[in-house]
Amino acid sequence: MTQVREPGPVVPSAASSAPSGPGAPPAAARRPPVRPGPQRPAPLPIEFWRSALGKKWVMAVSGIVLLGFVLVHMIGNLKVYLGAEAINRYGEWLRELGEPALPRTAALWIVRAVLAGAFVAHVVAAAQLTALNRRARPVGYRSPRDYVAANFASRTMRWTGVIVALFVVFHLLDLTWGTANPKFVRGEVYDNMVASFRRVPVAIAYIAANVALAIHIFHGAWSLFQTLGWSNPRLNPARRWFAAGFAAVIGIGNISMPLLIVTRVVG
Ligand code: HEM
Repeated sequence: MTQVREPGPVVPSAASSAPSGPGAPPAAARRPPVRPGPQRPAPLPIEFWRSALGKKWVMAVSGIVLLGFVLVHMIGNLKVYLGAEAINRYGEWLRELGEPALPRTAALWIVRAVLAGAFVAHVVAAAQLTALNRRARPVGYRSPRDYVAANFASRTMRWTGVIVALFVVFHLLDLTWGTANPKFVRGEVYDNMVASFRRVPVAIAYIAANVALAIHIFHGAWSLFQTLGWSNPRLNPARRWFAAGFAAVIGIGNISMPLLIVTRVVG
């Protein structure tokens, strides 16, 4: 495992040369310097998180949680094609989930908390891995060809990741809180979606963000198997199909909604 440690403290020179006699510093100031000994290992989960492999695992596991969410979220949203009643009822069902064992919206808040935790873990691990990579290769690649070959996927991941994160902020302001949607009415999911996607710039932003999301999912779904150690030449064609298939389903499903609403085929 690659350990990420801060350099130890700088140790002053030997005490034997310290002055003595009148005017000399007190005994405490002349104590021999403490040499940094071997650091005691932190608890195992913290040591794991500090390693590059640990961060990759955190990215892979949180990525699986987020993949699960985008799939379920898309399937739920496709109810827009069944009409206002179907999707509004689905929104209400989400709020009532777990009742009467749990109070109203409690289950939804638990899911939100897991999702927010996975999102934060994913972003923090990505940022720290990027910093580690930069430290490991501060001068870059020798030839532009090496650079393109070795870095295309990771560079795309960074940009598509940033675009998706910015999109999520706008999306929450638009369809959850309504701040970015003047016609927003709480609980009227169908009308909110139609009002939002009828605005051409907003529909274009949703389409562009979901293209970025599909690219991000393609690389992410492919590399998570590598991280988790499920990769060998026999498995790789299935990995590629899974990654491409998942990305295509999410991309086509999510892009269809703003596209069909802005063109007035739906709504
Ligand atoms: C065109 C595609 C999408 C549509 C039509 C859509 C639609 C919606 C709607 C209508 C809501 C509000 C639900 C309600 O209040 O009952 C919502 C919430 C949300 N969406 Fe999306 N969404 C899309 C894509 C995405 C994507 C790609 C992500 C993440 C990458 C995402 C993340 C979220 C989150 C985190 C919430 C808040 C959930 C909650 O707290 O209840 N959405 N979406």
